[in-house]
Amino acid sequence: MDRQVLLFIWVLSLSAVLGQISYSVPEEMAEGSVVGNIAQDLGLDVQRLTSRKARVYSGDSKEYVELNKGRGFLLVRETIDREALCGQTTPCALHLQIILDDPIEFYSVTVEITDVNDNPPAFEKSQIKFRISESAVVGSKFDLESAIDLDVGINGLQSYLLKPTDNFALKLHNQIDGSTSVEMILQKPLDREQNEHISLVLTAVDGGDPQMTGTMQIMITVLDANDNAPVFTQPVYKAAVAENSPPGTVVTTVSAADADQGPHGRIQYSIRNTLGDVRNIFEINGESGELRLVGNVDFEKARNYQVNLRASDDGGLTDSCKVIVDVIDVNDNKPVINIMSKSSVISEDIKTDTVVTIINVQDPDAGENGKVQCVINENIPFLLKSTSNSFYSLVTDSDLDRERASEYNISITCCDEGVPSLSSSVTLTLHISDVNDNAPVFERSSYEAYIVENNTPGLSIFTVKATDADWNQNARVSYILEDSSVNGVPVSSYVSVSADSGVIHAVRSFDYEHIKDFHFCVKAQDGGSPPLSSNVTVKITIQDQNDNAPQVLYPVQTSSSVVAEMVPRSADVGYLVTKVVAVDVDSGQNAWLTYKLQKATDRALFEVGLQNGEIRTIRQVTDKDAVKQRLTVVVEDNGQPSRSATVNVNVAVADSFPEVLSEFTDFTHDKEYNDNLTFYLVLALAVVSFLFITCLVVIISVKIYRWRQSRILYHSSLPVIPYYPPRYSDTLGTGTLQHVYNYEVCRTTDSRKSDCKFGRAGSQNVLIMDPSCTGTMQRIQNEKNILDEPDSPVEVRNLRLCITPIFPFFGPLLASLLQC
Ligand SMILES: *[C@@H]1O[C@H](CO)[C@@H](O)[C@H](O)[C@H]1NC(C)=O
Ligand SMILES: *[C@@H]1O[C@H](CO)[C@@H](O)[C@H](O)[C@H]1NC(C)=O
Repeated sequence: MDRQVLLFIWVLSLSAVLGQISYSVPEEMAEGSVVGNIAQDLGLDVQRLTSRKARVYSGDSKEYVELNKGRGFLLVRETIDREALCGQTTPCALHLQIILDDPIEFYSVTVEITDVNDNPPAFEKSQIKFRISESAVVGSKFDLESAIDLDVGINGLQSYLLKPTDNFALKLHNQIDGSTSVEMILQKPLDREQNEHISLVLTAVDGGDPQMTGTMQIMITVLDANDNAPVFTQPVYKAAVAENSPPGTVVTTVSAADADQGPHGRIQYSIRNTLGDVRNIFEINGESGELRLVGNVDFEKARNYQVNLRASDDGGLTDSCKVIVDVIDVNDNKPVINIMSKSSVISEDIKTDTVVTIINVQDPDAGENGKVQCVINENIPFLLKSTSNSFYSLVTDSDLDRERASEYNISITCCDEGVPSLSSSVTLTLHISDVNDNAPVFERSSYEAYIVENNTPGLSIFTVKATDADWNQNARVSYILEDSSVNGVPVSSYVSVSADSGVIHAVRSFDYEHIKDFHFCVKAQDGGSPPLSSNVTVKITIQDQNDNAPQVLYPVQTSSSVVAEMVPRSADVGYLVTKVVAVDVDSGQNAWLTYKLQKATDRALFEVGLQNGEIRTIRQVTDKDAVKQRLTVVVEDNGQPSRSATVNVNVAVADSFPEVLSEFTDFTHDKEYNDNLTFYLVLALAVVSFLFITCLVVIISVKIYRWRQSRILYHSSLPVIPYYPPRYSDTLGTGTLQHVYNYEVCRTTDSRKSDCKFGRAGSQNVLIMDPSCTGTMQRIQNEKNILDEPDSPVEVRNLRLCITPIFPFFGPLLASLLQC
């Protein structure tokens, strides 16, 4: 339609130009297509055309157009290809002549062949390939082939398009010949690691309608460059390894990646540290990245390690990372006990809660492995106190007693809380020093010992013993005799105590008859400061020995006096002539007396009571019996061996005193005769001088005697026995025995006999003469003091005894006076 309009307009314009007709037809019209109505355009009748033999002349060129005379049209005879006809020449036209006859007329006809977009742009190759290094710089240019479009004008090649445009841009250069060259410029660096193969499509576009395109594929292979460093998967690795792990233990494995290819991506691991001994402890497998131990890790030396690792590729690019290796504690250290200060000897009187020892405990392990608990053995009076962190003090927990335990082995055991737990222990030996806190103790609460009288002075009697639980000097016991007195005499004059041994010695010979027992105290004292002591009472009992012979009290035996018992001739059988009174100061069996008749003038006349000493007649006295009878009685005690005494008893068998006197003068005549002459002189003086005093004494005595006459005498008192012990000194130096000790007064009684008769016997016709009587008033006084019955007849007799020396010859006379 458009073409027709265009044609119309163009024809109109041609009509002005005579003889010149132009037509324009597009190329490629089908055969028979109308090019133009030439008849009309020429203003000719169709019939005329035929008639005028109208014809088309196209020279030597191919006849693309023919004339249809019937219709008057120019028709396409053969399809016209503009590109073949004209190539790139424009405009492209066919020049024809229409020739008419009759008249010959000549018309030029130009048929312009207009282009039709019947050719797409075309590339020579459908694909081109590039190999570009990824390191190619931005701006690098790459020549591309141009495309060719046979069409011309608007239908020719117009532009190029490149897709995608991520990395490259197109740049077109117009050539002088009007063609265009195409370049591809790198706009964004390539990255093989991202995109190794890039496929681009270059499209050439013409301007026809419809538009036609031609494409070419650009295949780009990106070549690797070492543009990527190795990269560790983590910048910091954490690992843990137990201490004391054997060499070869894999600690951890690190890994690095390199995006590059080939050698550029081949990674080697290495340790980068130069610090410390890391290299001596760790090694890394360069290929696998395994970090292993080669040395020993000790938690106590280093709790962690930082291993710096490097990964490098063959291109020399590197990365680094850290491996923090924590060393895990293993309970491999025993607690270490240090004794900071200690006392190895403490006093037993130390106060409770006194610090004895301070210890310090260290365990280099960590956590539970280093937590230490300390204990001490049980059942000892000590306590372990935790004072501050890792310090302990050992204190006394209760009172100590060296006597119970003088030494303690205190073992301190410290355990950590690791699993398994490790422990160590230390033993302290603590000596307890003695304090004098124990007094000596006697083995017995009291002692009693026996000693037989008449011992040798210095005899050891027995031993007291005290023990002291303390030690050494504090237990050294000395024995001391406590001062006291026995019967007014210091006890040290009786006994002494050996200070060291406790042996008690008799200082003197004891006499049972003087002292039967006595008490004293012995003190045991230790050597402590101050000393402690204790006492014990010792009782010493003296045992009797038969050391005293019986003593005949009556009848009194003197060498100078004659005592005679009178027996009337009328006496019956059993007449009690007299009684032999004897005593024995010993006691017991030793004082058990028996009386026997040893000799007698007439054995048939008298007998002696075995037990009582009574002399009795055993038959009727006859006139034939001699006046003077002499009996010898032996008194024996029952001791072992027995001791005895004899007494002569003179018996006068007579009815009157003169008869007796005449008979008995010869009793003493033999002995007294030599003294007679001198004695008569003395006697005369004595009579004058003492008559008065004598009479006075006698009268008083008689009075007392008579007053007591009726009383029955049960006991007889015995005379004083003076005793003069030898002089002894304290052989042990402990006492004060530097005196001479006189006697003790001892009285024994002998009451087993019927002594009641003694008084009577003494009161009978007795003549006493005793020149040996040397007693004094003092002595009488002593006697009085010890007599139970000071007014007994014995006293009277003693008075008589004292008188007799003064009047040895008048004794019998005075005696008879007394009887009056
Ligand atoms: C303490 O130990 C020592 C030495 O081992 C030993 O001789 C002593 O008998 C022990 N003492 C005690 C009270 O166990
Ligand atoms: C020992 O006896 C003496 C005298 O009898 C007394 O004074 C003293 O206190 C006693 N000592 C002891 C420890 O019994």
